[in-house]
This record gives sequence, structure tokens and C-alpha cells, in this order.
Amino acid sequence: MALITKKIKGTEDVLPKQSYRWQFIENIMREESRAYGFKEIRTPVFEHTELFARGVGQTTDVVQKEMYTFDTKGGESVTLRPEGTAGAARAVLEHSLENEGLPIKASYFVSCYRYEKPQAGRLREFHQFGIEEYGTQSPIADAEMICVAQSVLDRLGLTDIRLELNSIGCPECRAKYNQALRDYFGEYKDQLCSTCLSRLEKNPMRLLDCKSPEDHKLAEGAPKITDYLCEECENHFKEVQRYLDSAGVKYVINPTIVRGLDYYTKTVFEFVTDCIGAQGTVCGGGRYDGLIEELGGKHLPSLGFAMGLERILMVMDAQGIEIPCPDICALYIATMGDDAKVKAFNLLKQVRECGIIAETDVVGRGLRAQMKYADKIGAKYSMVLGDNEIAENKAKVKNMESGEQTELMLDDTFAEKFSVLNLTDNKAFGI
Ligand code: HAM
Repeated sequence: MALITKKIKGTEDVLPKQSYRWQFIENIMREESRAYGFKEIRTPVFEHTELFARGVGQTTDVVQKEMYTFDTKGGESVTLRPEGTAGAARAVLEHSLENEGLPIKASYFVSCYRYEKPQAGRLREFHQFGIEEYGTQSPIADAEMICVAQSVLDRLGLTDIRLELNSIGCPECRAKYNQALRDYFGEYKDQLCSTCLSRLEKNPMRLLDCKSPEDHKLAEGAPKITDYLCEECENHFKEVQRYLDSAGVKYVINPTIVRGLDYYTKTVFEFVTDCIGAQGTVCGGGRYDGLIEELGGKHLPSLGFAMGLERILMVMDAQGIEIPCPDICALYIATMGDDAKVKAFNLLKQVRECGIIAETDVVGRGLRAQMKYADKIGAKYSMVLGDNEIAENKAKVKNMESGEQTELMLDDTFAEKFSVLNLTDNKAFGI
């Protein structure tokens, strides 16, 4: 049969047999961010294009080349979010959350859209977990932010991930640094790619993360931001390191990290691994003290990070980290005849109300085929219900692994007795 269409390039389906892996990592992310006082924010998948153009920055790859932008029937330009920070900041401003007390602490799970060339770890629709904190200049907040990311990665059991840290300063020290970069790259104008050439005047720091190999080489010899930090930024950066040291968080200072989005100031960081190929950054973030003002609000120094869920799962795969599957069917009731089907329906309701996964035949299979199905789905226990069982009001529950059988009454004690059996695996049970 010819399908009329297939999924769009750079997108992925998460199938029912894989979704527990997503739920597992999402639960850990929720629990960890909650422990640090973050509460979930949910914002729309599309926003006015202007938000990203202003927020993420006109000279970034994301805005210049990668956004999914379209005009609505009403003639508005809207864009599918390429990241979660701008939308969350817009919502904070629109609802004046700063009046409810500072800091504001928000976490999110978002799908993001970037028209990039798909490759392993780089998708056009991908998913991020992120947190944002608004209304603090303190370096403790920077260190705490990094600790949340570190705790998540640790709890997931990921190893061989290095934290790379840098400070890209404030607008004052950045102005001097930008001039130093213009002077440096200006000498090599004839060797720069056309994108870099166009960014040289307006945003020379973008040249440092150009993907072209020639420009990348040039960037290696460029002046380092850490030599241009003003006193305040330098002290802030030192303090962040002092808190990280005190929490035992290991990091390396990498002065070439500038991040691909324009809103960053002072602290920037990335968690990077070498085990999943070229797209090894699993988490990126930093401080963005000017974004809220850029979007029309008051001065509200802020910071955050986001991690890519697909990349985290790739690392878990590459490192052989097993994720326990909680979706195992505990009880399969096979039925013979209509009365048995009706009885099974009643028993299943009881069992499911106890939070136990239980199934029966819903496609009209014969007994043998039902038992084959129970085996296939890995049911822990099975039970056959026929006329005899119904007449006697009791039936045998069979442990599919050991073969051990236990007789249970088919009355309203069934679910409770089955729960005990399921929990203690036959031991504390003595009918
Ligand atoms: P970002 O570095 O652009 O930062 O993305 C964060 C993470 O999303 C990356 O480290 C990566 O794991 C994942 N990611 C990015 N692009 C892709 C892609 N095409 N395919 C798969 N995964 C991808 C931000 O988005 C900022 N908003 C982070 C932030 C929050 N900064 C402050 N607050």
C-alpha cells in the first residue's frame, strides 16, 4: 500500500513502545527543577515573528536562516518558536509577573523548530527542557542554575560530560572586545565567508562560532573575551566559579564559547559530550541581563538554560544507560465465552482502579491466540476465565515466569488480593 505521505525531514515520531524513555527523563527534570523552586510555564508554539527577531537577535543564524515564519490569513507574520526563552520572557512581561515578587522561576518543556540541515542530533523539530530565572544579578543564581543542569545530568546517570564555562561580559566591555575582533578579522577580510563578512561590523562575536572550517581556524587566533572583561564582569565571573567550586561542580573555562543567540551577557555555559558525534552540546545557557528591556520591559537581569531531550536520550543510548520500563502489563485475563468476557470486564475495572496495568482480549481471538498475545506483551500474570470459573466464582492466576498458580475469588476482594500477590510475588499470599 502506497502511503500518501511520510513524516517531514528532520522530524521524529515517538512511538508507544519508546515513550516511557521520554517520560523517565522528563520526570527527573521536573523533580529536580521543582526541588530548586521552579514552576512550569506553558507558552504558545507560535509567536509574532518580531519577538524572536528582537529577542534572539537579527544577526543570529537562527533568525537569519532557520526560522519557520509564515503569514497568517489575517496578514500577520508569525514564527514557530525556535527556542523557549523569548516566549517565556514575553509571557512574564505580558502578565507583569515581576509585581508578584522576585525572582520569578519558570521551567518548561517545549517543541522547537529550526530549519537546519538534519543530521544525527540535529533536527528541525526537537524538544527542550529549560528553566529561566528573572530578577537577580547575583552570581549565586548563575551557580545555582548550573547546579540544576548538573543534578539532572547526574540523576540521569550520564558520564563524560564536561561543563564549559565563559563570561562574555556586559555591553561596556563587549564594545571594546567587539572593536578588537573587528581589528583582528578586518585583516583577513578576503578570507571570510560572505555571512561573516556581513556580520563583521554589526556583531563580530558571531564570527567566533562560524561553522565554515576556514573561519573556524581564523577564530582560534582571535582575541579572547576574558582579556577584555570590565572589573564588575570579571568579579562576577570569579564569584560564579567560587560558588561552583564550593558545590564541587567541575568545569573548564572555554573563552571561545559565545553561544549562538544574541541575548547573552556575562556567564555562558555548555554541557558537552564527545560520545554522540558532532552535535555534542546537550545543554546550553547563560545570563541575559538585557533581554527583558529589549522586549519593552524594565531592567530585569535574568538567566536560564535549555537541554535537548533527543540529545540526552542519544547519550543515554551511547552510554548503555538502561531506562526501566514501567508499562508492563501485570495481569492478562483470557476469556472463553460471553459471560467470561463480561466478568473479566468487571474484574479489570477493579484492578485498574488500583493503578495496576491489566488487559483482556478486545479483538475476538481464540484462547491460544490470547495466551500468545499475553506472552508477547510480557504480562506478569495471566488468568483464564471460562464457564467453570464463573460457576465456582474462583480462578487461578498464573505467574507467567515461574508457572506458579494462585487461586483467587472472583468477588470484590479480587483486586486487593491480586495487588498483594503482584507486590509480594506469591510469597505473602496463602489462599
Ligand atoms: P540552544 O543552545 O540554541 O539554546 O539550545 C539548547 C539545546 O537545545 C542545545 O544544547 C541542544 O541540546 C538542543 N538543540 C538545539 N538545536 C537543536 C537541534 N536542531 N536539534 C536537536 N537539538 C537541538 C537555547 O535554545 C536557549 N534558549 C537556552 C537558554 C535558555 N538560554 C537561556 N535560557
